[in-house]
Amino acid sequence: MRNDVFAAVRELERGGVVALPTETVYGLAANALDEVAVGKIFEVKRRPLLNPLILHIFDDSWVERYADTADCAARLWKIINSFWPGPITAIVKKKAIIPAIVTAGSGSVAIRCPNHELFREVLRICDFPLAAPSANPFGYVSPTTAEQVKQTLGDGIKVIVDGGPCSVGLESTILDMTQSVPKILRPGAITADAISSALGEKIADYEPIVANNPTASGQLKRHYCTHTKLVLFPHGNRKPATKASGKIAAVLNGKPVSPGEIAENFHTALENIFWLSEDGDAHAIARNLFAMLQRLDGGGYGIIFCERPLRMGIGIATDDRLLRAAAKFND
Ligand code: TXA
Ligand code: MG
Repeated sequence: MRNDVFAAVRELERGGVVALPTETVYGLAANALDEVAVGKIFEVKRRPLLNPLILHIFDDSWVERYADTADCAARLWKIINSFWPGPITAIVKKKAIIPAIVTAGSGSVAIRCPNHELFREVLRICDFPLAAPSANPFGYVSPTTAEQVKQTLGDGIKVIVDGGPCSVGLESTILDMTQSVPKILRPGAITADAISSALGEKIADYEPIVANNPTASGQLKRHYCTHTKLVLFPHGNRKPATKASGKIAAVLNGKPVSPGEIAENFHTALENIFWLSEDGDAHAIARNLFAMLQRLDGGGYGIIFCERPLRMGIGIATDDRLLRAAAKFND
């Protein structure tokens, strides 16, 4: 067994918090059945207590320990059989064993079976579920590398398990299964179309909710924000949307044919032109977005211009994160 996995297990068993890799983003985990331990997650992240956490489980044999599936079993098992372990979280009725702090007092719980070998190894040994939000300070960009976790939360966490860069790079799709028609609360790599075909019925299209008091913090109008001003420009455009001052960065979806021309358009040097993928691949764009934003946030820029992705497939989730990240700078 890897030493850091062993250290993480020991820390979790004594009620501490640790950072663990998942396939989506790094999580800040604690024993979900220990309310004092879960309280530490909120402290380290400076997260409002009103915001419920996702319960991570080892496999589908744990579902009945924590969830009351009487109302949704047929649909839930279709989702589980199609996508677990993987980047989709189901909201279902909870059982009493889950402390109120995990669900922010709500009668439903978000359950997820992550697809990362090291996270699953920790769960298997611990044999208790882990509450784990993304391992970023509340409102900031989610981490997709262990280094990013170290930079923003390093002082508050004793163990950070390095599982390499996350393969998906955006948080899991959240599917509310407590309603008569299942509904996506947060888009992710598993799309509405994929869910509809797994269920054999059409689910509602994702509608971005930008309320101030949403059910998922992924629905907050402003979230995932950089400190540096972030301004989006339409897909395919090769010119800045607004005037800018200070050092300018421009982030494109794919490698441009002529980076020099782009640099000229954006009134910046060639070294300040970046791209999220070589060829515009939507999964690569999603995978690299958060790491790019955090890297440029520390790069001394006055402004970051970022191209919006095509709104199809995983691009819907990527665009959703970008819109929320830029919302702070729109007012
Ligand atoms: O990919 C992921 O889901 C990552 C990794 C670490 O697993 N986790 C993650 O957690 O993104 P977090 O806390 O950053 O986002 C979880 C979202 C929150 O917006 C929360 O409001 C929502 O899930 N949520 C949790 N329980 C809920 C519930 N019972 N009802 C509605 N929304 C819930
Ligand atoms: Mg988060």
